[in-house]
Amino acid sequence: MLRTLLAVLVAVPTMLVVVPAATANDHGLRDVAKRPLVGTAVDMSALANDPTYKAAIAREFNTVTPENVMKWETVEPQQGLTDFSQGDALVRFARANHQVVRGHTLVWHSQLPAWLTSGTFTNRELEAILRRHIFEEAGHFRGRIYAWDVVNEAFNEDGTLRDTIWLRALGPDYIAKAFIWAHKADPHAKLYYNDYNLESIGPKSDAALALVRQLKARHVPIDGVGFQGHLGIQYPYPDTFGDNLERFAAAGFDVAITEADVRMVLPVTPEKLATQATYFGDMMRSCAAVRRCVTFTLWGFTDKYSWVPGFFAGEGAATPLDEAFHPKPAYFALRDALARAG
Ligand code: XIL
Repeated sequence: MLRTLLAVLVAVPTMLVVVPAATANDHGLRDVAKRPLVGTAVDMSALANDPTYKAAIAREFNTVTPENVMKWETVEPQQGLTDFSQGDALVRFARANHQVVRGHTLVWHSQLPAWLTSGTFTNRELEAILRRHIFEEAGHFRGRIYAWDVVNEAFNEDGTLRDTIWLRALGPDYIAKAFIWAHKADPHAKLYYNDYNLESIGPKSDAALALVRQLKARHVPIDGVGFQGHLGIQYPYPDTFGDNLERFAAAGFDVAITEADVRMVLPVTPEKLATQATYFGDMMRSCAAVRRCVTFTLWGFTDKYSWVPGFFAGEGAATPLDEAFHPKPAYFALRDALARAG
């Protein structure tokens, strides 16, 4: 749309020359459908060092998420010493490539700096530290982030709240407070609750739905819910994913698939790749079918840089492009599902 508009604007003054809308970006997943926007997590050192990786991100995607560089351990490695330079680099890259940025993540129990986890702070101090972190980070990126994952992974599988430094210090209201502070720091960013194993209808997604409904009823500024979408073909596909997205949307929330990948037990076989393709295609179709499903983000798009082998022993090959950036069946399944979305 933007590119079509640009082509028209360029063409109009001369009236004779028709400037084609085609650019180097015209053949990526980003060009197939108006919605959802399609994105990837970005590994900033790969972006800096691997030109093929960089070109593929520009070509394929219109939303990007920093895989690590906006996490607390990176942005405040020593107390009081903030460093947003890598996040700034991603924001610049995104702007140059007409991409939006999903900020990830302000409040989490993981990838916290050591000064924080091994410090001896009172509950009041921890509340002040969290508040300050949110104001500093969301304030630093104010106006440049499309959506923030404000709170990440707050629930256990049974729907109870996870025991974290934040729950212990502030009580369950840490979640509401985080959203209120984030909204003050960046009033235009969409604010999301984000979690894994939220795909199916069940205790965990029921609890998340109850939470976000309560927040909305209290006029806490929350706009959306992110479903991470870390799947594996050794587990059944979450068949209720589409209905689940629908019930969150019906409750008045934007929804997004925020970290999609589909891992498999190695070695790779053609059969496993075919199964993986159906999982990716089904996830994309579920999103495309729900009007309020605004973005579909992959947690890495090439097996060359995927986090999966490092975290799940014996598993891998979880993304749509192989290590050589060649498309796997999953890539075509995503493209076809998008094409049907129109
Ligand atoms: C992962 C990154 O991909 C890894 O590079 C890092 O070492 C650990 O975190 N859920 C999330 C993401 O919300 O932030 C995690 O990212 C994957 C699971």
